[in-house]
Amino acid sequence: MMTNATTTHLIETSDKHSLPQKIIDCIHNYGAQPSPLCAYIYDLEALEERITTMKRCLPDNTQLFYAIKANAEPKILSTLAEHVDGFEAASAGELNWLQTHQPNHPIIFGGPGKLTSDLQQAIHQQIDTIHVESLVELTRIQILSQALQLPVRIFLRMNIDIGDIGSSKLVMGGKPTPFGLDETHLKQALAIIDSSPFIEFCGFHFHLMSHQLSVERHLLLMQRYMEMVKKWQHDYPSLPSNLTINVGGGIGIHYDQQPQHFEWEVFCQQLASILTANLQFTVRFEIGRFITAPCGYYVMEVLDIKKNLGETFVIGHGGTHHFRTPAAQQHNHPFFIVPRRMSHAMENKLQANLIEQAAITGTKATLVGQLCTPKDILAKDQWIDALHIGDYLVFTLAGAYAWNISHQNFLMHQPPKMIFL
Ligand SMILES: Cc1ncc(COP(=O)(O)O)c(C=O)c1O
Repeated sequence: MMTNATTTHLIETSDKHSLPQKIIDCIHNYGAQPSPLCAYIYDLEALEERITTMKRCLPDNTQLFYAIKANAEPKILSTLAEHVDGFEAASAGELNWLQTHQPNHPIIFGGPGKLTSDLQQAIHQQIDTIHVESLVELTRIQILSQALQLPVRIFLRMNIDIGDIGSSKLVMGGKPTPFGLDETHLKQALAIIDSSPFIEFCGFHFHLMSHQLSVERHLLLMQRYMEMVKKWQHDYPSLPSNLTINVGGGIGIHYDQQPQHFEWEVFCQQLASILTANLQFTVRFEIGRFITAPCGYYVMEVLDIKKNLGETFVIGHGGTHHFRTPAAQQHNHPFFIVPRRMSHAMENKLQANLIEQAAITGTKATLVGQLCTPKDILAKDQWIDALHIGDYLVFTLAGAYAWNISHQNFLMHQPPKMIFL
């Protein structure tokens, strides 16, 4: 029996309300071992299907890069490599990682506070483009490219007022943030570029929103970006007419129970009309979460069930040190239960000891991990139809900003198994 704790909606064919059978089979295969299971399972087939669909929907004059900060597992990157136009790195570490694992694909490099050595490395590597975050950074690039006598292609990352378009959970711009240049610095930036023979200006970069769940608002944002660039082209006639606009990532995933999802296909159809009226622009996406979140599952075998001051807690093998997503997003993470009854010997012993909570039925419980902190919560007050010690808690949508954003060394627990299907 399986409890569907939430409803998750993805794009098109992957819009399922139950765990794929291959994930259940995988859990049973790996769960048969003596030590309790704790694992990430990545469905690379589903990932490939998803990226193929995403790419197919995109209109002409668009490019799709993958922001590897979402999940840089080498097998994820190699699954995506032939479908994306390149990869976005946000640190020298990610640049090195890509050089090792994906040396033949275009790389774009963004993020605030780049070291001079980071910029030097990027120029030496002759990556596709650097996203410039400030006038200081632009000056560093000017000096370096001159000293190295090497060309460098740049985008200016801008922060602009977006009025009431932006109302997602995490706003990265449109209000004061450390990201991008203020419009009032554009004149100075363009003057620096004009006086730098090795710098080639390729376009503007915007990433103002994360967790965007509304197609309508995202389209308004795209339009706003294009309007701004046209205004700047008018104000600064030296700007080329054909520019690439990097519109960032930020497309959201519904982690909660609402039966809505970001309709990528609809978004792409409407974007096509906007682009038809703006043929001078190429639009470049650098998306992370929306690409990889659905392909990942975090599995914890239930170690203990207990009642404490009136509330029921389910303790799984693992926790937020492996899977910080629910803590980081401050949400209850969607999950399924895959049953595996504990051994008869253990069950008999618990019964003999009059321990009631070897199983729970028809009750609410909080799902926690093994850490010595009350913050180690993956889902609070969740309705549970039936659950036994030894069953598996399977957290879905765990393929982005999950293992790689977790405080993995805290308490020195073993890492999860990494399984790629
Ligand atoms: C500059 C930039 N681009 C792209 C992304 C990827 O965003 P997402 O994973 O929400 O698509 C991020 C995420 O923080 C970012 O900061």
